[in-house]
Amino acid sequence: MLSLVVLISGGGSNLRALLEAQSSADFPARIVAVGADNDADGLAHAEEFGIPTFTVSPTSYPTRAAWGDELLSQIETWNPDLTVCAGFMRILPPRVVAALSPQLINTHPALLPAFPGAHAVRDALAAGATETGVTVHIVDEGVDTGPIIVQESVAVEPHDTEESLHERIKTIERRLLTQAVLDIANNRVNLKELATA
Ligand code: GAR
Repeated sequence: MLSLVVLISGGGSNLRALLEAQSSADFPARIVAVGADNDADGLAHAEEFGIPTFTVSPTSYPTRAAWGDELLSQIETWNPDLTVCAGFMRILPPRVVAALSPQLINTHPALLPAFPGAHAVRDALAAGATETGVTVHIVDEGVDTGPIIVQESVAVEPHDTEESLHERIKTIERRLLTQAVLDIANNRVNLKELATA
């Protein structure tokens, strides 16, 4: 059984998809804790499913590195096999990445390397892209640059707003992230091999 810590910043619909998947006895992964960088709405999903939560806000620490060290220490308390950034909107400090990667993955609402960063859906619309998508990847020291585990494209419709496009992306994303966790748990995806390929 693969143990997971999931990190979120917002509504947590991807977290919820994982929580629902693990309600099935044959899903080979279990979330042991959910962490956030703020009082995120999505923490309610964890509470509903009886999963412990922790919050480490950067505003409570003098430096980004100090914040990262506390976040890492909270994650390591749970000794997870895998840490999943599911809508975690902060760049992890280098010491956190060094300690956890490649057992550290992220889901991103674009077809990387296109549109990295915090506003991927807005940026795709602004660029006039006709296609964008979802990427689940290993987190490395760059911003959305790590080895890709799985991707799927989503068409941009002529009347899309940032909200409508993001909602369509998230429908795909929830399935792709759940599948990626399943594949990692079943050793169909080997993160160490992928990271050194
Ligand atoms: C997801 O679309 C995720 O890819 C994105 O935030 C959303 C969170 O949705 N993450 C990023 O943009 C990271 N750069 P959720 O809170 O409903 O799971």
